[in-house]
Amino acid sequence: MATIRHYLQFSDFTADEYAWLFRRAADIKRKFKAYERYHPLVDRTLAMIFEKASTRTRVSFEAGMYQLGGSVVNLTTGDSQLGRAEPIEDTARVISRMVDLVMIRTFGQERIQTFATHSRVPVINGLTNEFHPCQILADVFTYIEHRGSIAGKVVAWVGDGNNMANTWLQAAQLLGFTVHVSTPSGYEVDPQLAGVTDRGCYKVFADPAEACRGADLVTTDVWTSMGYEAENEQRRQAFADWCVDTDLMRAARPDALFMHCLPAHRGEEVAAEVIDGPQSVVWDEAENRMHVQKALMEYLLLGKVAG
Ligand code: CP
Ligand code: NVA
Repeated sequence: MATIRHYLQFSDFTADEYAWLFRRAADIKRKFKAYERYHPLVDRTLAMIFEKASTRTRVSFEAGMYQLGGSVVNLTTGDSQLGRAEPIEDTARVISRMVDLVMIRTFGQERIQTFATHSRVPVINGLTNEFHPCQILADVFTYIEHRGSIAGKVVAWVGDGNNMANTWLQAAQLLGFTVHVSTPSGYEVDPQLAGVTDRGCYKVFADPAEACRGADLVTTDVWTSMGYEAENEQRRQAFADWCVDTDLMRAARPDALFMHCLPAHRGEEVAAEVIDGPQSVVWDEAENRMHVQKALMEYLLLGKVAG
């Protein structure tokens, strides 16, 4: 049996594969906007498993799969046997005999890794504590749409050294840009966990304004990610100076874009004037989740098709 390709981290694909996916996403988006029917995934089924909440990931995968002619089954921990301690290995064995593709949002990366090991079909990471590859796929695509190639550019990451930050590091190493990371002490990124060995693809700054200086893109995320709610109060205090406001945006290039994976908390990690301001592309970014994931599902199931 041929090796199954999974998408568990951004580093699972090569730069050439990303070039392909970005081209396909643009074409698939154009078809969608033109109401051009494109049903390459007729008779294919996607199972989605949510062990954490979601709005964008749920809607973008579900709508995207239907638009490609396929069907979707949605499970959550609470309404499946996962919530009653059925082993993830058994769940993977069973579900992957019935569907063609699985998307999972869960806690530790080892959980999705275990699922993939026991799955007969490709598995997509819809967010883990460690990584959020589908979001960075959409973010880089959004950057390219607005500004062209991201190679050689500077992305400022302001805030938590979380799943998004780790994934930005992986993308920087693969696609040839630099991430300027500024996090409060105790919330640093972990390049080792991200498997990032190229010291040239990220720089660490104590001061968020220094991280933003000259940046082409400024991006942030919630102070408290899902699963870390018990640390909410402590994080509120630690992150108080890591808010992307107009001063921080002024440190970046005048044409810098602002991105946020959403959901956002205005007045915490981002000021309303920034997220609702002219440099913000957060709604394009959210919409693009659907277009890039359609390209991703097409690629995992059909390979490099000319559609
Ligand atoms: N950005 C993102 O993944 O959003 P949801 O949590 O709503 O899926
Ligand atoms: N870092 C956030 C992203 C939400 C889409 C979280 O994991 O909750």
